[in-house]
Amino acid sequence: MKKIAVLTSGGDAPGMNACIRAVVRTGLYHGLEVIGVRRGYDGLIDGDFLPMDSHSVSNIIQRGGTILKTARSERFRTKEGLQIATKKAKEAGIEGFVMLGGDGTFKGALNFSEASGMPCMGTPCTIDNDLFGTDYTIGYDTALNTVIDAVDKIRDTAASHNRLFFIEVMGRDAGFIALNGGVGAGAEEILIPETKTNIKELITHLEEGWKRHKSSVIILVAEGDEEGGAFEIAKKVKEKFNHYDTRVTVIGHMQRGGSPTCFDRVLASRLGVAATEGLINNRKNEAAGLVHNQVVFTPFSEARKHKVDVNEDLIRIARMLSQ
Ligand code: F6P
Repeated sequence: MKKIAVLTSGGDAPGMNACIRAVVRTGLYHGLEVIGVRRGYDGLIDGDFLPMDSHSVSNIIQRGGTILKTARSERFRTKEGLQIATKKAKEAGIEGFVMLGGDGTFKGALNFSEASGMPCMGTPCTIDNDLFGTDYTIGYDTALNTVIDAVDKIRDTAASHNRLFFIEVMGRDAGFIALNGGVGAGAEEILIPETKTNIKELITHLEEGWKRHKSSVIILVAEGDEEGGAFEIAKKVKEKFNHYDTRVTVIGHMQRGGSPTCFDRVLASRLGVAATEGLINNRKNEAAGLVHNQVVFTPFSEARKHKVDVNEDLIRIARMLSQ
């Protein structure tokens, strides 16, 4: 193998740049040419290629976002899109890929590999931490730290005004950010898609707290909770319980930005190296992950098949400690 390519796809995650740097420098270290593909799979279809040297990834380890830019490509879901992408990659002499992203990225990588016959490796990048085959995804730790920083600040004003705050965090399908962020920030209640949210029970808890003279309350809501987002749930609660002045904050995309934590930079570096060396050593269609602090490889097909469960014990801990 003489020439490989790297791209970022799907939602960006802090640490993607550290991972791009790791892929580029590992490739160069092993004597390969490395091409950066801009704008994810859309850029692959358009042949938006950029030769990468060591200098091209200088000073990016600390930056959020992705210097290669990213996209969620509709065209790449079509047979025609995959054919054009194959043609563009072959014309450029690319022989293998490292794709950085989440579940949709792995699906695209698998489809592309089937269509083109080219080996693809992946690294799990998403703030949601919802990928099988790794204990932590790149970007999750940074997002959690952003969340607890925001909740700590909101708690100051909540306590000063005796308010009930509903704070919505990201997690369309998964409650990892809400659960871990909620435990870390000491939230009174945590509402996630993995557990049934019972508004009546929630109100009972709030009434109990009110009777115990709780002056303010923080409720963390994962955006994918089945009872709705923070605004909807706040409305449902307010109709039956309005002892507190109620406010809603949606942290939103702030969670996806910012300088990655040291944990995410090290994780991105380890997994970027592992995926690239895996590619060089003839691995294909697998994602590099970290399980019990060891690098492991999981076939994309397996990673996509399994849903990751939230830690039941953490739910118990959260309930116990929020009394
Ligand atoms: O990357 C996953 C995610 O962070 C989800 O938790 C969230 O629902 C989604 O991205 C938001 O994506 P978009 O940038 O398309 O609004």
